[in-house]
Amino acid sequence: MKISRFFSVLLTLLVVYALVKWGIPAVSRQITGLPFPLPVPGTLIFIYMLLTVVALFLFVTFSDTHMDEFLHPVQRFLRGDYGKLPRLMALILIPLLVGSQVYFITVPDVQLPSSLRIQHPSSNFPAKFETLNNPIANPTDADIDAFIEQAAAKDVQLIPQVVADAEAWMENNEEEVHPLSFIPAAAITDFLAQLEAGKVDKETAKAALLEKNLFEGRALYAMNCRPCHGDSVAGDGPMADGFKLRPINFTDNGTIETIIEGYTFWRVSNGGPGLPTEATPWDSAMPEWKLNLSEEERWKIIMAEYELAQKTPRIPESH
Ligand code: HEC
Repeated sequence: MKISRFFSVLLTLLVVYALVKWGIPAVSRQITGLPFPLPVPGTLIFIYMLLTVVALFLFVTFSDTHMDEFLHPVQRFLRGDYGKLPRLMALILIPLLVGSQVYFITVPDVQLPSSLRIQHPSSNFPAKFETLNNPIANPTDADIDAFIEQAAAKDVQLIPQVVADAEAWMENNEEEVHPLSFIPAAAITDFLAQLEAGKVDKETAKAALLEKNLFEGRALYAMNCRPCHGDSVAGDGPMADGFKLRPINFTDNGTIETIIEGYTFWRVSNGGPGLPTEATPWDSAMPEWKLNLSEEERWKIIMAEYELAQKTPRIPESH
């Protein structure tokens, strides 16, 4: 059976469209072995179809006979040779089809969030975190005594992340230095002087211990949080622009200053995945730090975070 020129053109268009739209994704799935097909972008489909139409146009207008053959069924149809009903149907269906296509393409389908995001959702905030105090910022007497002992024995325990730097610094010093003098802070200099004189005052030791904790906290902050929250803790790190929900600016009055420390600890530990639905509609990229950082490291960072932002945590209501 010979297909008429008109229908072969129509058929070619349909076959090419089906090949690009469904054929390529199906083949891509076979080739990549992925559990999903690779979609063909709309603009690419458009280009393929445009090229096909151009080729078909050349094919149809190649000669007058070709053109007549192509137009023959169209003219017969329009004249009503196939009956009036099909013609009427086509006259109604084609505008309807085109109209509905245009409607569905242009109708806006992006839903605006119906409510603003709640920054500090607390519906699943466990009560036991409410009374937490930062043990790193509030060392006990035993902590201070242990610190004095370590310092006297020149055996200060630093977090492993800064040990290599501390050792390199000690080696570069001509005379023998106390390992703590690696940390440049007045409170530490005072403490070391007292240690040398053999007359250590607890308050000075405590201030030195806090300086050491802060130093470690800042180092951990730079390693873990800086890419998003930034050097300036203003939520402007190098990765910050990549997120729809921007990393928090800790220097802003509405952020870490308005929450109690236990809440900050819970937020840092559980990150975006730990937030209840009130924290939506945008998902938070904040990582779940309990997977990577020990409790002590998290508290050290939180201490440094407040200090860098020049903020203090909110005092719990029970106080
Ligand atoms: C991948 C980027 C990213 C990294 C890395 C990151 N954060 Fe975040 N953080 C965010 C985003 C985004 C938000 C804001 C969304 C939200 O509230 O969860 C946020 C929010 C927070 C909040 C909540 C502040 C508030 O007022 O509710 C705290 C606290 C916080 N981050 C601390 C940290 C600490 C500490 C670290 C390092 C241990 C860190 N972040 C590392 C992306 C990051």
